[in-house]
Amino acid sequence: LSISNQLTYREMGDLLATNVFQRLFPMHLGLVPQLNEVYELELAFFESQILSDEEIIRNGAYFAQVGDRLTRHFLICSGEPVRLPQHSSSRLKSFFQSNQFKTGYATHGLFPYRGKFHPQMIKGILNVMGLKPGDSVLDPMMGSGTVLIEACLMGIKSFGIDSSPFCRFMTQTKIDGLTVPTAPLKLALKNCETVFDYFKLLIGVPEQGSKINLTKFDNNIWSAMESSVDYQIQLPDDCDSPKVYNLLLLAYLDSAGYSERSNRKTHFEQFKAILERYIFVVEKIQHVFAGAEEEIAEAIPSEGDARSLPYENSCIDGIVFSPPYSFAIDYLENDSFHLGYMGVDINLLREKMVGLRGRTLRQKYDLYKSDMDKILAECSRVLKPGKLCVIVVGTNSNQLSKILGTKNVQGIDEMLIQLGKFHNLALVRKIERQITGMANTMRSEFIVILQKSKC
Ligand SMILES: C[S@@+](CC[C@H](N)C(=O)[O-])C[C@H]1O[C@@H](n2cnc3c(N)ncnc32)[C@H](O)[C@@H]1O
Repeated sequence: LSISNQLTYREMGDLLATNVFQRLFPMHLGLVPQLNEVYELELAFFESQILSDEEIIRNGAYFAQVGDRLTRHFLICSGEPVRLPQHSSSRLKSFFQSNQFKTGYATHGLFPYRGKFHPQMIKGILNVMGLKPGDSVLDPMMGSGTVLIEACLMGIKSFGIDSSPFCRFMTQTKIDGLTVPTAPLKLALKNCETVFDYFKLLIGVPEQGSKINLTKFDNNIWSAMESSVDYQIQLPDDCDSPKVYNLLLLAYLDSAGYSERSNRKTHFEQFKAILERYIFVVEKIQHVFAGAEEEIAEAIPSEGDARSLPYENSCIDGIVFSPPYSFAIDYLENDSFHLGYMGVDINLLREKMVGLRGRTLRQKYDLYKSDMDKILAECSRVLKPGKLCVIVVGTNSNQLSKILGTKNVQGIDEMLIQLGKFHNLALVRKIERQITGMANTMRSEFIVILQKSKC
């Protein structure tokens, strides 16, 4: 009996009994739980085609098992997800549970940063770019350092640039978190009142609801980053080694940010809860890498300007970055509290920041375009011929059509693809990623894969 022109009932039954995943992937590969987006399936498919079984076990982003062996990604993410303070909303808790394999693992969750990549997606992209241990990758707008941390874990040497000194500090501290000694951190937690008082005296406390913009350290950012020996309050033993000290300082700044925004807990209670969470996170990732520490690759985050990169021509194996998507997120506004404490002149920094330059929206748009043109020229210059530059970017069409006064605007993704062409970067593939959530004005973002011409 035929149910349509093409299929018999029997054929229909056979078709519906087919497991699509088994068509896409070899039987011995088991996907990670919570793989629920089309772009993830695509990246997983490419990984299965590009990586050997051993490489999937070590560096795969979307597989939990190869035969009966668990992958490192599964081990890094499994167990209790990020330990959140008790008072955290159930929405936040459920977010971390349902995103356990996507974000918040390793040291990625140490400091909240808006506009951060999904680390799992970055791992997948680094694999799909064909980058292997020993190769190098650059993120010229590293933000909180997601690319660098993933690269470290995967054995890929990484370089990062950001115009914000706070990003450089945050990234370095997250990288150091992979190997920081935990005994002094635990001692600090035992003596957390002293540690809290130490930083309170050194840095101060935020005033709720007010943005503090003090130039406390004579414009010398790093004076806040160094432990002072001749200080009235002494930190517990070994807490002044740079890796430990910076993690404690990051926890203090994190808690200051929270207590500025919310009064559910005192500043000290926030600090204690955050320090506990930091120690938990650091111990968890170090446990997975115990005995394999030498596989963690070197990462070099720097403060700088993506429009003028401090690297030689044709020296990098791959580039991954995400520019500010538009003029929607004022990163300096978000970080003004910390930057203020670090003594950064926010107005001077604003002049270097892509997306923030210009007074009117039209000026901002034009400057954004010319800045991105310079950045793509630089990316092309430092990239080895034939290698890939991947840009993750979304478009806020409503905002753009208001600025340009027309309905059919060219999205930022299209703008970058066009600019890339002038700099020997040709489009290979554009993968769409849906953005869910009611608060988001953008509906999708794109993984734009460009390839530098071979000669
Ligand atoms: C979308 S965020 C990147 C977030 C990052 N992918 C992450 O995972 O955290 C864009 C970053 O570009 C940085 N930025 C803006 N202008 C820059 C410039 N001229 N040079 C380097 N970085 C810049 C901002 O400070 C911000 O951190």
